[in-house]
Amino acid sequence: MEARKAASAPWQHRPILLVGHMGSGKSSVGRRLADTLGWPFVDSDTEIEAAAGLPIPEIFARFGEPGFRDGERRVIARLLAEGPRVIATGGGAFIDPATRARALAAATVVWLDADIDTLVARVGRRSHRPLLAGRDARAVFESLFETRNPAYALAHLRVPTGAGPHEETVGRILSALATLDA
Ligand code: S3P
Repeated sequence: MEARKAASAPWQHRPILLVGHMGSGKSSVGRRLADTLGWPFVDSDTEIEAAAGLPIPEIFARFGEPGFRDGERRVIARLLAEGPRVIATGGGAFIDPATRARALAAATVVWLDADIDTLVARVGRRSHRPLLAGRDARAVFESLFETRNPAYALAHLRVPTGAGPHEETVGRILSALATLDA
């Protein structure tokens, strides 16, 4: 009876969209979550690069951040229409009002909430992220916490994540999803 109830839980028929800051582990955790659920996994940044035929830094360089956001909005709208799958998004995706409204209506949105120390350690000195290139990562995150956390807080589920193994975060997501079964 319980199993039947869980099998028909609405979240099982919708994509799961992972949101959160750069370095919060959306792609690594998302891939493992998808494996556990037996669902496809897709990374919106990878899909944007494939659609543009360019790596993200090049998209920013040629078309600016607004050009990147246009592509991101279109790609995520397509991914949200493709049925149950785990979708890892770029850190700015859920800040866009149109993407946010579409995601909240069509998916289960999970905020991977990491603290600044974890994020700074994770992004390290790598500069493939245009928003961090040549900047002090801690200062960038302090500013992004102010501007973006209010949007992330609108996600259906908030799951804390830290320096521990990704499996731990996957376990927390599964427990959070189970609360939606009730
Ligand atoms: C961005 C985050 C990046 C990527 C782009 C912009 C952002 O993705 O989409 O560089 O605005 O925070 P990750 O969150 O996977 O680093």
